[in-house]
Amino acid sequence: MGIPLAFPAFRLSRRGAVLWIRQGIARAEKVQDEMQFELVSLNTVMNPDPKLGGLSFVEGERDIPFAIRRLYYIFQAEKGAHRGFHAHKKNWQLLFCPYGAIDIILFDGEESCTVSLDEPSKGLILYPGLWREMVWKKDDSVLCVAASEYYDPDEYIRDYDEYLQYVKQKKGGIRE
Ligand code: TYD
Repeated sequence: MGIPLAFPAFRLSRRGAVLWIRQGIARAEKVQDEMQFELVSLNTVMNPDPKLGGLSFVEGERDIPFAIRRLYYIFQAEKGAHRGFHAHKKNWQLLFCPYGAIDIILFDGEESCTVSLDEPSKGLILYPGLWREMVWKKDDSVLCVAASEYYDPDEYIRDYDEYLQYVKQKKGGIRE
């Protein structure tokens, strides 16, 4: 099940404008205080010859707050495709889109926010515990993910009602 359409999308922007440091190196300032993600500018080197393009790179534990245990990427998805619909209990992730444009819709149990990954140098660090949905804005956009954990299906929450319950328990201070 996806995020209900009734979600108050973009409410977060009222109290914390998304900060996007275009030319910055690696980590941006914290995007906002409450929802746990950071939009960062990846290290990027453009070749002086525009025909030769650019190169972006990330170093685990330096540019992002975790060591990278796993890389994966999603490809050949069509414009309009929706994926995701889950949260992670432990996994930290860096998302980036080296080709195309993908919207990442985030929800923390109360607030919803959309981040557009539409430039190769944009990176989105997701802390554990956020529900996410990805929407393909262009055919064949590629979503790359660097993850802090090896794949473990038990670390996922894929049921939306279970996620709401999980958030409620966390807020109530109940530990797993
Ligand atoms: P899934 O998480 O459902 O993709 P999405 O949420 O983007 O739609 O993953 C698709 C399939 O790939 C699913 O069967 C689990 C498998 N998978 C792995 O085996 N290892 C991995 O590291 C990942 C991310 C997925």
